Amino acid sequence: MPKVAAELEETPANRAIGTTLWFENEHVRSGRSLKPGERPFHGTLRPTSGPASIRGRASSATPTAPQRQSIFHSVRLCSTRSPRTTTSAVAVPTNRPKGFAYVNGEIMPTDEARVSVLDRGFLWGDGVYEITPCFNGKLFRLDQHLERLGSSLRFAGITLKISHDDLFTSTSEVVHLNRELTSSHPVCRVGQWVTRGIEQWVPLDQRDDGTTLCILVEPVGRTLTPEDYLTGVPLTIVSTRRSPSSVLDPRAKTTSRMNAIVAEIEGAASGALALMMDIHDHVAEGPTFNFFLVRDGELLTPKAENVLPGITRGVVLDLAAELGVPVMETNLSSYDIATANEFFITASSWGVLPARSIDRFHPRDGVPGEVTMRLIDKLSALTGYRPLGDHEARG
Ligand SMILES: Cc1ncc(COP(=O)(O)O)c(C=O)c1O
Repeated sequence: MPKVAAELEETPANRAIGTTLWFENEHVRSGRSLKPGERPFHGTLRPTSGPASIRGRASSATPTAPQRQSIFHSVRLCSTRSPRTTTSAVAVPTNRPKGFAYVNGEIMPTDEARVSVLDRGFLWGDGVYEITPCFNGKLFRLDQHLERLGSSLRFAGITLKISHDDLFTSTSEVVHLNRELTSSHPVCRVGQWVTRGIEQWVPLDQRDDGTTLCILVEPVGRTLTPEDYLTGVPLTIVSTRRSPSSVLDPRAKTTSRMNAIVAEIEGAASGALALMMDIHDHVAEGPTFNFFLVRDGELLTPKAENVLPGITRGVVLDLAAELGVPVMETNLSSYDIATANEFFITASSWGVLPARSIDRFHPRDGVPGEVTMRLIDKLSALTGYRPLGDHEARG
């Protein structure tokens, strides 16, 4: 059991961290219930003596004190539980890559990071998030992702008391701490999750501050192979519609993702990736990707107001302009799908990914199409990551 110093501040901002400490409490760990009137320990964890514990890191890689200062100028190192301590009935899979997470200013091993069960993100999906791809250890378009996070926060009415620049710095630091992970996985996802924080039983506009902020670095769950890019992935139009802005604006990246998750389940049941229509029978997007088609040399994609304005979508629109490919953001129907020469989807960690079918429809030019390949090639030049490996792009 590491020694900890506790600052007994009963602020909502500290409660999520306090929960971690609550679990650390020897009495709780030994199964003893709290006595009437006894309050769990709330405060921030700080190592008091000896080397700070950063488990999962080879001891030679443990930063020295001066290094730690420079790495941790905006985050604090969190003391960790002893290895035999279990705080959750659900075991974290042992094959999960080890890494470090940021939770409200503290750094801790990802598989030990916790937020409170009273967090509104857990209770109600009351939060927003962002995911920036990290190719070979380099974050791609972090600034733009943080801009979009800012828009989602404004939409949700959540005030994050960290500036764009500080969030940029903290994110870069967390990525640096996870360099073992990012150097062994060519594509990682770096996410910021922000929730409104602990439930306070007051009207939402009268809440104290106290958002929860987590920064996580994880390898992409589904590793795509060069063959996936050469043969394309299958898509299916699912019955779940993308939520219209009158229900939940799809332009905000919110953690209330059930709309997209149900679509994803539907797609998986057909052995394909889900493509959602909007409520007017126009193509919208997938649960985690934007959609494009090429017809007669022109690049067409659903209008921005009906979809998440994907960062990759924006990059692709710029790259198409550089290639001299005309672009139109427009309503697309099944007829447009039936008559398309090429289809592809875009997402931060996948880049430009060709689609080989949408139910019974196949792209007229086969897979991968010429415009698609030229875009893959151009995007690889920007990210430094070549999803086709040694297979040459044609364009
Ligand atoms: C609904 C939805 N559409 C599109 C995308 C692709 O956006 P980006 O290119 O920024 O990853 C995502 C990414 O998570 C998404 O969730």
